[in-house]
Amino acid sequence: MPFRRGLRGRGATALAVALCCCALTWFTATAAQAHASLVRSSPAAGAVVPRAPEAVTLTFGEQVLAADAGVRVYDDRFAELDVGPAAAAPSDPLTIVVALPRGLATGTYTVAWRVSSRDTHPVAGSFQFSVGSTSRVVGTLPETGRNEAVGTFLGVLRWVGFVGAALGPGAVVAALLVWPAGLGTRPLRRVVGAGLALLVVSTAGGMLLQGVYASGQPLASLWRAPETLDSHSERFDRVYAVRSYLLVAATVGVVALLGLPAEARDRWRRAWVVVAAVAALALLATWPLVGHSAVPPGAQVAVVVNLVHLAAMVLWLGGLAVVLVGVAVDRDVVVADGLRRFSLVALGSVTVLVASGVVLAWREVGTVGALGGTTFGRVLLAKTAAVVVLLGVADLARRWVARNATGDEVEPVGTTHDRGFSRFRTGLVGEVALAAVILGLTAALVSVVPGRQAPEGAPGSSAPAGTSVGPVTPTGR
Ligand code: HEM
Repeated sequence: MPFRRGLRGRGATALAVALCCCALTWFTATAAQAHASLVRSSPAAGAVVPRAPEAVTLTFGEQVLAADAGVRVYDDRFAELDVGPAAAAPSDPLTIVVALPRGLATGTYTVAWRVSSRDTHPVAGSFQFSVGSTSRVVGTLPETGRNEAVGTFLGVLRWVGFVGAALGPGAVVAALLVWPAGLGTRPLRRVVGAGLALLVVSTAGGMLLQGVYASGQPLASLWRAPETLDSHSERFDRVYAVRSYLLVAATVGVVALLGLPAEARDRWRRAWVVVAAVAALALLATWPLVGHSAVPPGAQVAVVVNLVHLAAMVLWLGGLAVVLVGVAVDRDVVVADGLRRFSLVALGSVTVLVASGVVLAWREVGTVGALGGTTFGRVLLAKTAAVVVLLGVADLARRWVARNATGDEVEPVGTTHDRGFSRFRTGLVGEVALAAVILGLTAALVSVVPGRQAPEGAPGSSAPAGTSVGPVTPTGR
């Protein structure tokens, strides 16, 4: 059967290409991305300067946003000094300057900073310097504000958004390609509606929580006016505002498409595929713009690769949802025709997903050592392991389709073929469950610092001897 041979041949080629990509990128990886780590400061961490400085400057590995109170300075009893607002240095956008009070007394001072990196994650850390000579530091650094619970909520909302993107825009495009008649059925319409609703929940929830998260305030500050939160989240706010407008436009478009008579949908199917795909891409582009991909260098390329990765994900998982609904609603038609189309869509999506995922991983992790040595690397390894299992299950399904979805009549219920079909359907459910786990691991991946936490010898990585200061390392996001 040429279709069967073609599918097997393409499967082997796709797998080989994906494996070559993996090997090449893992082994040629060299430089880790420093991201928003503090690369130097003046006074330097641990330095004893002869005269009281007029200002503290902090230079980061990338351009950061700091709230007015983003840099605080404490004396050796942890009384807070009255410093100026944190502002970008006019001559160097990577540097933040904070004016100090005149004539600092002899002794040790602690600088605690909190900024938003370009990927919109808050990053914080601290270091010490001394004027004249060191003094004994008594007490611990006051809580600079880090709200783990809100960070976890945001991670869950990100997962909800991924699922929504697959079931909403992803399922619409996949249905137009695989089973256009399905768009007229109530179950598939419900799936698409649920996807759009999840996207609304994820977007609105993210907008509500980001201010609290970035400002490090307790969850109760959710009820305060947003402008009173010192959150420096302008980039996040802008991108999420665009996402919400695009979401409204996408919902109107989906309602219009579903409201058309079936013949009109069929006659203009190709045009609808293009329109739906472009609308989905515009919406999906708002994800990488507030993620690690937006961090220079190479942000433009990384954003595009990430967008391609996301698009392949929503097409594959949206298609899986369409097929699951399809075999329940109109099994004969879907098995005879839709499954073959889905097999090709899935094969293409998976190949693109693995290849683009490896490129993103190479960019974010940087070195083979960082794979096992950082949280990001370990979560990525777990995700890769889950992807390998998923690909194994998907390959079983693909083989079943190549053997059975021949365009012929489907055998009646109770036959051997039918029992094989039940196993095939169970496999599809397993794929969906594994995909949900992978999306969960991805939501975690997007929330942690990629690569190494900070370059070797960066300030803030150790406290001068003789002090009793608490946390003085850059604390993640
Ligand atoms: C070998 C296979 C894969 C690798 C190496 C990989 C790696 C990555 C990496 C490094 C990122 C960037 C995370 C960040 O921004 O910090 C990412 C994002 C993502 N991946 Fe994968 N991935 C793979 C397969 C998959 C699969 C199979 C799925 C879905 C079932 C998936 C779904 C996603 C999603 C939803 C994002 C988030 C994009 C965003 O928020 O901007 N990935 N992946």
